[in-house]
Formats: sequence, structure tokens, C-alpha cells
Amino acid sequence: MRILSIETSCDETAISIVDASGNIKSPSFKVLSAVVHSQADLHAKWQGVVPNLAKREHAKNLVPVLEQALKEAGLLKKTISQPKGKKQGEKLDIKVKKILEREHDLSEIFFGFIPTIEVPEIDAIAVTHGPGLEPALWTGISFAKALGVYWDKEVIPVNHMEGHTLSALLPEGTASIETKTELPLPALALLISGGHTELVLIKDLLHYKVVGATRDDAVGEAFDKVARMLGLPYPGGPQISKMAEAHSGTKNIKFPRPMINSSDLDFSFSGLKTSVLYKTRELGNLTEDIKKEIAHEFEEAVVEVLVTKTKKAIEKFKVKTLIVGGGVISNRKIRLAFQKLIEDELPDIKLLIPHQSLCTDNATMIAIAGYMRALGHKTRKTKPKKNFKAEGNLILR
Ligand code: KG4
Ligand code: ZN
Repeated sequence: MRILSIETSCDETAISIVDASGNIKSPSFKVLSAVVHSQADLHAKWQGVVPNLAKREHAKNLVPVLEQALKEAGLLKKTISQPKGKKQGEKLDIKVKKILEREHDLSEIFFGFIPTIEVPEIDAIAVTHGPGLEPALWTGISFAKALGVYWDKEVIPVNHMEGHTLSALLPEGTASIETKTELPLPALALLISGGHTELVLIKDLLHYKVVGATRDDAVGEAFDKVARMLGLPYPGGPQISKMAEAHSGTKNIKFPRPMINSSDLDFSFSGLKTSVLYKTRELGNLTEDIKKEIAHEFEEAVVEVLVTKTKKAIEKFKVKTLIVGGGVISNRKIRLAFQKLIEDELPDIKLLIPHQSLCTDNATMIAIAGYMRALGHKTRKTKPKKNFKAEGNLILR
């Protein structure tokens, strides 16, 4: 099954084309193209993502990103005259215009390009419908639905967090080109991104239960806010990580490890963030060396909390696999900490960390989850919902 996938939940406009095959227990994926257009530089000025600005950028970039994805996959064929009859074509145009009613900019670009290319050889379209910024999500959804009608393809709605979870089916160490990965169950997924920090139990494929979550800030959010306190640009995660790696080893600063010993599996990062704020105020003049030490100690605190809570959940639910997904697992120290935990303390557990290119937002993970969803529908003899909407707070279950 060849899937074209679309991701616009935050500030990345991404489209991938993925060949997927195999059954739900041992699926295999071959990435034909994966294009990610980041708006980070644009939002940096505002120190965070501005929803309506993100929406406008998605509308502007979706068609060029699609063109590039089709080209890279070798699926872009120009057409001279429209392959459909005139009447039929007009009917189609009206239907698509109705779908794109609220997406004025996108509509214009859509009709400037889509009728000039042949229907590509794909089987279905997968698109993120939540969680995320609703204006941004709607642009991707409307685009997917419009393409679905125009090209007569099924559209599969995908939960962004299921994407982050199943991105681990293309794990580190694979070339991200063609992979077949087994996922022994039950599994536990730690999802750490800019909007989420969750421990998710997976007893059966396609069924999720959130067993722990942050009570305030997400880990990525804490990274971004601490970076701002240190005068580093958005997104702060990679900046903090670089600073921390350059740290010389001094140990004068100590931050708390919030909720590390609590009896539940929840997290809290706002206290840690506030401790950093107080420390920066107390020190006043932040030299480069002090910034490096703050970044280092902040990362240490995050790592300790994440590893301790995850280990507790692994033992509690006796899982066979640990997945760690989401933008924050791009962080080298955090990746190494989980590798060490498994090697040294839990050698029977299979660790799946997504390929480096699939940690931060991308569309390949949406194609992977879309394929798994399609297999679920096939088994149950059902079809994906047609009238799905953007759901900013969509829960993983
Ligand atoms: O998954 P993602 O791309 O978007 C959401 O779904 O939120 O995650 C983005 C988050 C941002 O907060 C960013 O600062 C963080 O991931 N991040 C990192 C690193 N790279 C990205 N955090 C720590 N270290 C990194 N190297
Ligand atoms: Zn994400």
C-alpha cells in the first residue's frame, strides 16, 4: 500500500510518501520521499509558535512541499489536458472548492497546480487531525480531503501522538529507507515533545492507555522556556543540548528532580523551570560558562526524572518493549540514558527509539500510523470516518 501523508499540527509542513506492506504484527516500510519544511525561523521572532501565522505558512507551503515529495518519489508527471471529461471536471472543482472554502490562500494554489499533474500512483492519504493547533491542523485536513476527492483516494485521519509512538517502527540504526520491525507486546511508550509528556501502555496494537502524564509543562516546553531564560533562540531544545555538551564539568548549581519519588507515574516540570528562573535572577550576570552549567544541570534533572519514572512503569506493567518518541528524544544525552538503562538494568527489554530524522515532527510517522490504522479497518471490515475534524486536544486511546 502506498501512502501519501500530511502533517501540519504545529510549525512543520511535512509530506512523505511511504510504501508499506506486511501484516499488523510485522509491518515493513520503505520511505520514497520525506519532505519537512520548518517554519521555526519565522516563529523564532515571537519566541514560540503563533497559530495563525503557522496556518498561513502551511497554506503557502503545502503545494510546493507536495510537488517536491512527488518529485523525489519519482511520481510527478505533468499532464497537458485534464484527464477527466469537462462536465465531470467542473463537478469535481465545485466539490473541492467547497472543501477549501475556509482556506482561501490554499484554494488558489491548489487549483494552480493540482490540475496540471497526473493523479499519482498512491493508494491512500493519511493526515494528522490532532492534537495540535487547530487552525494549523485544519489546513492539512482540508488539503488532504481536497486531494482525496480530486484524486479519488481514501483519507485516513491519524493521531499525531500515535505517529510519534509508531515512528519507532523505523528505529535508530536503520537507514530509514526500508525496515521491518517487530514490536513485542505489551509495550510502554514514553512520549516527550513540545506539547506532551506521557507514559502510554500498549497491550494491543492500536489500543493505548495513558498511564502517566505531566501535570503542567511538557518536557520540550520546559527546554524551550529555559532556553529563553538563557537568551537562546526558539526552539530551545537543540540549543540547550549544545550548551550542555560544551559544559566543562563544574558542579556549583543543583536543581530539583520534581516528583521523582512520587508513587504515581505523573510528571511535573514547572517547578524545575522556576528553579532555573530563580537561579538566573540570583546570579544576575550569566557568563557563557554559567549558561553551560545551567543547561547541563537542567538536562541532568530532566534525564533523571524521565529515566526513573519510565523504569518504574516498565516494572509495574512488565512490558517487553520500551518506545521513546517525540521531538525531545533527538537529545543525545536522553537517548544515551535510555540505552544505558536498558543495557545495564533491563537487558530483556527491547528498546525502540525512532531514527534521528523521525523524532521531531515529520510526515513519515503519520504514514506509518496511517498504514497500521488501514490494517485495523481491513480486519474489522470498516472504513475510516469521512467527516473527521481537527481536534486540538485529541487523546491517544
Ligand atoms: O515532537 P516535536 O517536533 O513537536 C511536538 O509535537 O511538540 O517536538 C518539539 C520539541 C520542542 O520543544 C524542541 O525544543 C524539542 O522538541 N527538541 C529537543 C531537542 N530537539 C528538539 N529537546 C531537547 N533536546 C533536543 N536535541
Ligand atoms: Zn510532535
